[in-house]
Amino acid sequence: MLVRGRLVVEDDQGVRHTTHRPVSAICRCSRSATLPWCDGTHKVLPARLRP
Ligand code: FES
Repeated sequence: MLVRGRLVVEDDQGVRHTTHRPVSAICRCSRSATLPWCDGTHKVLPARLRP
């Protein structure tokens, strides 16, 4: 999921993360090594695990 602008994203642990780019990608598959941000891992997941 792409978001634009300066935002604060709260993860499922209640930790707040601030965006630093004009456009940021938020992970929807929960497999990223850089949660809450997407690192592209979703591209190599089996279809049944993709968001
Ligand atoms: S959506 Fe999870 S790594 Fe991209």
